[in-house]
Amino acid sequence: MSTSRFSNINTEKRESPRLVIGFDPAGEQRTAMNDRILIYYHTATGNTGWLTGEIARRLEEKGCAVALRNIAHQRDTTDIGNYDLIGFGCPVMGFRPTFSMTDFIESLPMQQGKAAFIYASCAGISASSLWILSQLLSTKGYEVAAAEQFRGEISWPVARVPGIIPDRGRPDTRDLPAIMRFSAAIYDVLKRRAEKIPAAPCAVPFASLNPFSYLGRTNKAAYLRFIMGSKHVDQSRCNRCGLCEKYCGSRAISLDPWPAFSDACCGCWGCYSICPQKAISAFMGPKWQYREKVNYLDARAAEDL
Ligand SMILES: Cc1cc2nc3c(=O)[nH]c(=O)nc-3n(C[C@H](O)[C@H](O)[C@H](O)COP(=O)(O)O)c2cc1C
Ligand code: SF4
Ligand code: SF4
Repeated sequence: MSTSRFSNINTEKRESPRLVIGFDPAGEQRTAMNDRILIYYHTATGNTGWLTGEIARRLEEKGCAVALRNIAHQRDTTDIGNYDLIGFGCPVMGFRPTFSMTDFIESLPMQQGKAAFIYASCAGISASSLWILSQLLSTKGYEVAAAEQFRGEISWPVARVPGIIPDRGRPDTRDLPAIMRFSAAIYDVLKRRAEKIPAAPCAVPFASLNPFSYLGRTNKAAYLRFIMGSKHVDQSRCNRCGLCEKYCGSRAISLDPWPAFSDACCGCWGCYSICPQKAISAFMGPKWQYREKVNYLDARAAEDL
């Protein structure tokens, strides 16, 4: 067990499931190639980070080499060509993938039929988030070969006000079967590539009967920023640790000398939730709405911090 550098980041929240459901690669057909996978992920409060770490762990157990990049501070795209498969994972916010992730994808260099997989964590209304991700990636020359969504404890402080929090603690060991199925599907993509079998198309449909799909399509970062309201830093609490700046997925914070917020902010509430000093307040979020446990901002937090 590691001790976090950050007092409110509880790396004990979710036990390492390494031995809970072990993956037995013995029966798997290994490819001759050294499968190299690169995953870009965004996480505002750690749910998607945890999923990312567990997906990576399962793929590594199958013999793949997996590199993880939190797009808040690891944005290198120059070596994408060195990888066989690229993953993209993020939370759903405002019925769509986070603007941090979609803005990042828009900035990617063009590819020609590069295989990709996508996943999202949400509190129950993903709407057409995976469709939005797959459409955007296809405009960048990626072919999405596997897609999945997972449940995560609601991270929107406003929705936490009533105190009824479904799926509290998720994703956690309850989600391991789905994680293993998804990892197997990703690995299957690599096997097919190695055996030169055409990739099975992964249809990611637009949920046309779901009204939230249309809200998600038309949503704007400025709306989410507006809904969050103006942010304020209590200088008597802030110790200028830089955590909010490092993990802002939209790189909207600069310490100057106190945290200052630019219009790149997409209203994800990440800074508000992760600040160890509870120094950041927002118009819509009084102190008592803070999540008590935020972790896995780095997908391998339990091992790396
Ligand atoms: C501003 C905001 C908007 C959200 N909107 C949605 C939504 O439209 N649908 C949904 O299912 N969950 C929504 N959520 C919940 C998150 O998707 C969910 O808690 C997710 O697991 C958070 O992932 P993270 O910890 O990796 O940031 C929202 C959360 C926030 C903070
Ligand atoms: S606002 Fe919080 S996270 Fe940001 S620098 Fe200050 S103490 Fe650190
Ligand atoms: S400034 Fe805060 S709320 Fe805005 S994008 Fe960055 S982490 Fe999210």
